[in-house]
Amino acid sequence: MVEYAVVAENLIKRFKDVVAVNDVSFKVERGEIFGLLGPNGAGKTTTIHILTTILKPTSGKAYVAGYDVVKEPAKVRSKIGIVFQDPSLDNQLTAYDNMFIHGRLYGLNGDALRNKIFELLEFVELKEFANKQVRYFSGGMRRRLEIARALLHQPDVLFLDEPTLGLDPQTRVRIWDYIMSVKKERNTTIVLTTHYMDEAEELCDRIAIMDKGKIIAEGTAEELKSMLGSEVIYVKVVNNASCVEANFIEKCVRVRENLLEVVVKDASTAIPKLFDVMTSKGLKIVEVSYRKPTLNEVFIHLTGRELRDALEESGRPHLGPRAWR
Ligand SMILES: Nc1ncnc2c1ncn2[C@@H]1O[C@H](COP(=O)(O)OP(=O)(O)OP(=O)(O)O)[C@@H](O)[C@H]1O
Ligand SMILES: [Mg+2]
Repeated sequence: MVEYAVVAENLIKRFKDVVAVNDVSFKVERGEIFGLLGPNGAGKTTTIHILTTILKPTSGKAYVAGYDVVKEPAKVRSKIGIVFQDPSLDNQLTAYDNMFIHGRLYGLNGDALRNKIFELLEFVELKEFANKQVRYFSGGMRRRLEIARALLHQPDVLFLDEPTLGLDPQTRVRIWDYIMSVKKERNTTIVLTTHYMDEAEELCDRIAIMDKGKIIAEGTAEELKSMLGSEVIYVKVVNNASCVEANFIEKCVRVRENLLEVVVKDASTAIPKLFDVMTSKGLKIVEVSYRKPTLNEVFIHLTGRELRDALEESGRPHLGPRAWR
């Protein structure tokens, strides 16, 4: 029997007339990285807040590390670590003191606490900054410190709400490395939210795409992309191109006089066959490119709009902390 680290069953959360989370169910296996991917206002943070006992659901049930989030909130809290979407460090304190206070809140003390703080600061490469005030830290350093702090009491499940929001690409990749090693070295289950498709794809074993309070698709990145059913091959030829027909070709479009767009079920098996068909027709191929479908295309397929547009249509900035909170 599979033991689940997180189980959400028909969660609903209403704020007056807004249904922020609208019948959300999912399960996360132990040791998995599970991602909620969706635009602003999709209900990702609200879902995380229910699972971390910060908010009570209007209805539905959820279990984290085997405990009921409504009936056993203290037990749930003892088993989880959280990195909030909005920064939550004390800027006036040093990195060490931010960690120390958190450790004391969880009942850690003495050498055990001190050693654990240094071990984790080393893990996120901040040991040499232990005694520096956080106000001098860059965005990436703060995020790393928040991750280290969330790991202090060795949680079974780590929740990361937009772990790389607003960070530059290099820093984001570095944070991904830490997240991956938390999974590998500590066997911690991780639930994260993101509106970055690359982040979901790079990090998550499974992804739930969320929009307007609902999970509209769930699976591995590969499974989600295979929902699209088709892949696109571009073929550039020397001579004037004319479209080719074969049973494995779903559609062929002449994009330019020397460029064909060929839609197939599976590009990896179609490309060699396409070569044969085209060569037999006297078409000399000079370039072939194959565009892998993206999660954005999956989002378009499901909602009729781009994930990027959906981010903008909410009218709220999607980078940086939320001003309205
Ligand atoms: N405390 C609240 N009171 C009223 N409405 C809220 C509250 N918190 C969230 N909402 C609304 O619920 C919906 C979902 O918000 P939520 O913060 O969960 O989305 P999100 O997916 O985390 O978005 P983002 O990418 O902006 O973080 C939004 O319409 C939001 O305005
Ligand atoms: Mg959010």
